[in-house]
Amino acid sequence: MRKLACSLFALVLSLATLAQPKADYNVVPLPQHIGQLDTTRHFTLRPHFTIAYTAGNAELERNAEFLQQYVKELTQMNSTTVPSGKGVKADITLQLRPAKQRTTQPEAYTLNIDKKGILISANSGEGIFRAIQTLRKSLPIEDCQEVLFPYAVIDDEARFAYRGQHLDVARHFFDAEYIKTFIDILALHGINQFHWHITDDQGWRFEVKSMPELAPKASIRKKTVIGRNCYSKHSYLYDNTEYGRGCYYTQQQMRDIVRYAAERYINIIPEIDLPGHMVAALSVYPELGCTGGPYEVWPVWGVADDVLCAGNPRTMEFLKKVLTEVCDIFPSRYIHIGGDESPRVRWKHCPKCQAKMKELGLGREAELQTYINKELDRFLTAKGRTLIGWDETLEGGLSENAVVMSWRGYAGGIEAARQHHPVIMTPTGNCYLDYYQIKGESATQPLGIGGYLPLSKVYGMEPVPEGLSQEEQKYIWGAQCNLWTEYVLSSDHVEFMLLPRLAAMSEVQWLSPEKKDFKAFEKRLQHTLRMYEKFGYKYCTKYE
Ligand code: ACM
Ligand code: ZN
Repeated sequence: MRKLACSLFALVLSLATLAQPKADYNVVPLPQHIGQLDTTRHFTLRPHFTIAYTAGNAELERNAEFLQQYVKELTQMNSTTVPSGKGVKADITLQLRPAKQRTTQPEAYTLNIDKKGILISANSGEGIFRAIQTLRKSLPIEDCQEVLFPYAVIDDEARFAYRGQHLDVARHFFDAEYIKTFIDILALHGINQFHWHITDDQGWRFEVKSMPELAPKASIRKKTVIGRNCYSKHSYLYDNTEYGRGCYYTQQQMRDIVRYAAERYINIIPEIDLPGHMVAALSVYPELGCTGGPYEVWPVWGVADDVLCAGNPRTMEFLKKVLTEVCDIFPSRYIHIGGDESPRVRWKHCPKCQAKMKELGLGREAELQTYINKELDRFLTAKGRTLIGWDETLEGGLSENAVVMSWRGYAGGIEAARQHHPVIMTPTGNCYLDYYQIKGESATQPLGIGGYLPLSKVYGMEPVPEGLSQEEQKYIWGAQCNLWTEYVLSSDHVEFMLLPRLAAMSEVQWLSPEKKDFKAFEKRLQHTLRMYEKFGYKYCTKYE
């Protein structure tokens, strides 16, 4: 009889907890180890709970406030943040690991959930922040009077140190306020590098104080080609509508964005794409082009033949002035100098470029690009920075300290790793988010550049290619997806292209390959999608 009563009591208890909102640690990206999970025992978080941070540690205090805000957003539960100390009994405690227990991975963290509460410990504030994101994503999305956290010990660290996401703001502009939202999205996905493509043929979107006319003029294109370079009767069809007046970031806005990103442990890597993709700048300084112009901010898409003149000493002066200001605004160790899609046809026919080749004893025009890169490598290295270039920078020989971003497949990355240069893998076939994510052109997706990159193919990416020795594999620093915006006109469209493919990339970047499982990921993704809805992010619902 007593046994029956006990069983009944247990049943009632378990039915009651079934109805209570529970945390679920199966989030995206999935933590590396969820150990000692006991779903029958829970720590209960109730409104007015407390979050303790190490007294006097402003970084942990800020993290405690992030957590407070996240829990409030998703569950409506209020909390207080308090410095830890004698007599403080907190529900959630944030603390750095003692120096002896720290590992080399700054982002490694442990989440300990037991009857005493939730303990977040990490090597650094960065690790605390990543742990908070995991905790945040494990929360139910509903107004709660309590949340049950099953006992567990979660140990996590990222597979790759470099976990990037790129955004092109040159072809279409997204204002400073939206860039912060974009950074929020990156933080939710454990991204730590924002590659910000701020200049291109079709618009220059960065204030340069020493050249005050540059951004105001070079940000405006008089018209934009219709569709995918629509052509009729020997000429392009244009919308005849001005685009981009005032569409550039002031240095103050950029500094503010850098700070906003840094608080979320995201480094911003600015890209000044050179020596190609420079027509917007040439429209203001035609003397920097081989033909002398005139040029106009480019109204069509594609690769322009007009590039910076490599033989004109004023080109280098211009670039150094620009990069000086870039380095002043962006504390990033890494500065991207582009280097992609820079035709050499103008250089071939330019007396100045040919004279420069003769002076330097160069046999091929490709080496002129290397000459520029070497000069800028020295310039940036003297400032304590490191240059990143697209994989075309391999063609005339890499400069000494160059990092290579491999986009035309894996080959450039493999070659660079073999030459012992660090590599970021971003091959078009797995990482180009301007490609369609639904098969075929259809009413269910806006006009895009073409291609087909479904969610599953992003998920299936392996950044470390076969054929590299163990030593060479160490040069693969990580991976990133790129979002070019020729056909992406609005922030809603940015999110549609980004989500949920960024979620797939986050598991590529974070999770060990043997733990990846697309079917299981799709299940976990459902909760992520509900978060997108809660936050008002416009994701692609018909992902494949
Ligand atoms: C690139 O997609 N042109 C780097
Ligand atoms: Zn030239």
